[in-house]
Amino acid sequence: MRPSTFVAGLAAVAAPALAQNMSICDKYTTALLKENTGANQLTLLTLLVNTVVIGNYTTPNMNAVPGILAKGNYMGTEVNLLPYFNGGLASSNRGGASGVAINFLDDGGAAPLMKNLPSTGTSSNQYKLMTHLYQYFGALLGCSATGFPSYAGFGSQAAVHRFMDLSAAEVGYFIQQVALAASSFGVSQDDIAVVGKALNTIFNVRCAPPTVVIPAQGAQLQSICQDETCLLAPMATCAAYPATMKPAKANDTMAAGGAANSTKTGAPAATSSKPAAFSGAAVKIGAGAAGLLAAAVLAL
Ligand code: HEM
Repeated sequence: MRPSTFVAGLAAVAAPALAQNMSICDKYTTALLKENTGANQLTLLTLLVNTVVIGNYTTPNMNAVPGILAKGNYMGTEVNLLPYFNGGLASSNRGGASGVAINFLDDGGAAPLMKNLPSTGTSSNQYKLMTHLYQYFGALLGCSATGFPSYAGFGSQAAVHRFMDLSAAEVGYFIQQVALAASSFGVSQDDIAVVGKALNTIFNVRCAPPTVVIPAQGAQLQSICQDETCLLAPMATCAAYPATMKPAKANDTMAAGGAANSTKTGAPAATSSKPAAFSGAAVKIGAGAAGLLAAAVLAL
């Protein structure tokens, strides 16, 4: 399978798919890969998420994507997300009172991603993170064909991202890369706007009440944006979120933005795979992201 050959003719096939009340995942799996199977949905999400992470690696493509590991500028603010992923910052939640440094590029870095794989092997931090991202973004986009894997990671993204103390520019940059990656494969600007709005509303806010994203996981605290630059969510429940502080540098070279394809950081290894939970107020709002996206697609 050659990802490079998928884009041609997308505009022509996407319109009829839209008329059939399909999810965004169904629509673009059909448009790009023809058969709407679980395996093809997973290929689509692998293409999308790998491009979000490392930037364009397939041709032809509709536009350039720097990827979240590249330094960038989001609306005038310099952004560098790499140190959260390469063990440069003690920013991962493994259940303790503060963050720990973990290298998520420990299994080949960019090289396997460019071959449309999550990692070289299957027992690394990189494998776990990448496969969880395929599953999660797949669920958000309505991938539900038999064989598409259910999300097997943690339900509360606030807990997962707890010790990163992310800013509006950092989360905005991440979401912008999702949008650029989608448009590089020919996803329509209307569909991108729907997804971007959902991501910004659910994750790029401070103190949102528990929200359903993965129905099987119920309502969970999902706000990822934490510092003073973040928009306060409607019905904010800040008491449910622990106080934050900027993560400590674990490795000066990596914290400054070391090589994206490095395989070793010298950072302490993870001790447990469980993030610390929050108390979480018992408010449940809306139908969650899956419902939100499905409804928006049906309304187009
Ligand atoms: C729309 C915004 C975002 C969403 C929906 C999202 C979603 C996720 C998901 C589903 C996971 C996997 C959790 C698990 O394995 O249990 C994850 C992990 C991670 N995310 Fe995000 N993320 C977002 C933004 C960001 C941003 C802006 C950063 C900044 C660096 C970031 C850094 C990370 C890191 C480092 C991990 C690994 C955490 C760990 O295993 O401890 N994410 N994210």
